[in-house]
Amino acid sequence: MIQSNGKQRAFVFGASGDIGQAICQQLAASGWSLILHGFQHTDVLATACQQLSQQYPQQDFQYFSADLMDPNFLKPNLLSQFGDYQALVFAQGTTDYQLFSTTTVQQQQKLFQLHLFSPLTLIRAAESHLLAQDHARIVFIGSIYGAVGSAMEVLYSAVKGAQTSFANAYAREVAGSGLTVNVVAPGAVNTQMNADFSENELAALKAEIPLGRLAQPQEIAVWVAHLVAADADYLTGQTLYVDGGWLK
Ligand SMILES: NC(=O)c1ccc[n+]([C@@H]2O[C@H](COP(=O)([O-])OP(=O)(O)OC[C@H]3O[C@@H](n4cnc5c(N)ncnc54)[C@H](OP(=O)(O)O)[C@@H]3O)[C@@H](O)[C@H]2O)c1
Repeated sequence: MIQSNGKQRAFVFGASGDIGQAICQQLAASGWSLILHGFQHTDVLATACQQLSQQYPQQDFQYFSADLMDPNFLKPNLLSQFGDYQALVFAQGTTDYQLFSTTTVQQQQKLFQLHLFSPLTLIRAAESHLLAQDHARIVFIGSIYGAVGSAMEVLYSAVKGAQTSFANAYAREVAGSGLTVNVVAPGAVNTQMNADFSENELAALKAEIPLGRLAQPQEIAVWVAHLVAADADYLTGQTLYVDGGWLK
């Protein structure tokens, strides 16, 4: 993997989350400068920027907050105010555990807005800038549920499948320009998103996974670091399933 020279800069959306934090660590270690996005946990972003700046003084680390469930989040110059950039990594997200029949249109709109529509708005705003780069990257953190579906997480499965479909199609449209579009789709990861599982539920889940455990966030982040590397030009339109041999 080629090391970035510190002049390459990536946006990491959902950088205050567990997978987002691990992605920031891995990309910073590979030489990337970063713009960290989060929503409510700006304290996490501030601390991460401070620590990363100390660890990697040749690189720069900035952060901002935006509610990506709000369709009007995109302010003029939201992206360009941070300077040049070569990659967008979408690691924001949440889910609702309930039967589809009990979900509301509002929940549906919010989930699609957060995982799909806001990223698409950002990609539209960034496209001309990304196409002007020698190597540019878009990576979504999708989910195994986008491929196999999950009862009680039907809307979530639908948005994750839509991320993969978007990457399939958009990768073709921009192929040849140096912009690659991929999805890293985890199975179950040891993060806040799964913090509500009881011990019994966790044990049952682990028993289903051939590796016998959940992934650590850095085991997802490592694939993001590979995909954004300058020598990863030839992989595009793919969804990498990182699920411990569970469902794919
Ligand atoms: N954990 C798993 O088992 C698993 C499995 C497959 C896929 N994934 C996917 O991996 C990604 C990261 O998940 P995670 O486990 O790291 O979750 P997490 O620790 O709960 O982090 C969620 C991130 O999303 C951000 N976010 C939530 N609501 C937002 C909103 N309205 N506007 C903007 N940002 C918002 C949070 O920001 P604040 O905290 O600052 O508000 C945080 O940065 C998600 O797309 C998730 O679907 C996770």
